Amino acid sequence: MAEDPEALTALLAGAGFLAAGEEAEELLAGAAGDRALLDSMVTRRLTGEPLAWITGRVSFCGTVIRVDPGVYVPRWQSEPLSRRALARLPTRGTAVDVCTGAGALARVVADGQPGARVVASEIDGRAVACARANGVEVFEGDLFDPLPVELEGRVDVVMGVVPYVPGPALGLLPRDTLTFESTLAYDGGPDGTTILRRVLAEAPRFLRSGGALLLELGGEEASALGEDLDRLGYVEVTVLADEDGDVRGIEATLAG
Ligand SMILES: C[S@@+](CC[C@H](N)C(=O)[O-])C[C@H]1O[C@@H](n2cnc3c(N)ncnc32)[C@H](O)[C@@H]1O
Repeated sequence: MAEDPEALTALLAGAGFLAAGEEAEELLAGAAGDRALLDSMVTRRLTGEPLAWITGRVSFCGTVIRVDPGVYVPRWQSEPLSRRALARLPTRGTAVDVCTGAGALARVVADGQPGARVVASEIDGRAVACARANGVEVFEGDLFDPLPVELEGRVDVVMGVVPYVPGPALGLLPRDTLTFESTLAYDGGPDGTTILRRVLAEAPRFLRSGGALLLELGGEEASALGEDLDRLGYVEVTVLADEDGDVRGIEATLAG
């Protein structure tokens, strides 16, 4: 298979990969001149397997994050959420990243505030191992269940890119996502808000008064959560949107 960057780019572009040039560069760098390895990497990519699983890495906020096969690939669309989390984290504060996956948000926030403690939770053992390899203090289990009890009432920031795709929309995810990735990473229940609502309800056990909650979500989910946010004592609720005006998340503060 093609060792020449232009030929490899043409091969990938012909197979429908939109960022063929960048992908060719990454594959060539990953193979580091090993022709047999390059062949096997390109063959895997042509099946639609995520590039990050093949190269074993992805860049998130400029930080290289290890991504093992089977582990959700951190998306650049989540970078602004991690920046907001960092902005809300005091110098010697504490942050929790629920559903951490490979640990990208936790890693970037910990690097950005070295005096703080950043802990994470994750239910999938493969992701737990991957997050640990990325240097994240991760606890295996369901949402807040595995977190140390001494953190209750002391956390400054709870953040999360949790599963939030509505069940009926799972079938609309890209074909490669459905083929390779687990619905555990995406399935947010019938209207997408099942896990989001659980995080809203369970976070106050750990958040201090005035602490921040930052969650990625989409579509109509921010408005669907309005009543829960009010009832549970969250104030200063801001809907986070991207440059195109699409809703990407919410930021809220736990009232005193
Ligand atoms: C959309 S992925 C996001 C991963 C990571 N936050 C990121 O942005 O790269 C959601 C992650 O939540 C994990 N997960 C799903 N249900 C969970 C639960 N009840 N408790 C903890 N983690 C869960 C999945 O295994 C998956 O790694």
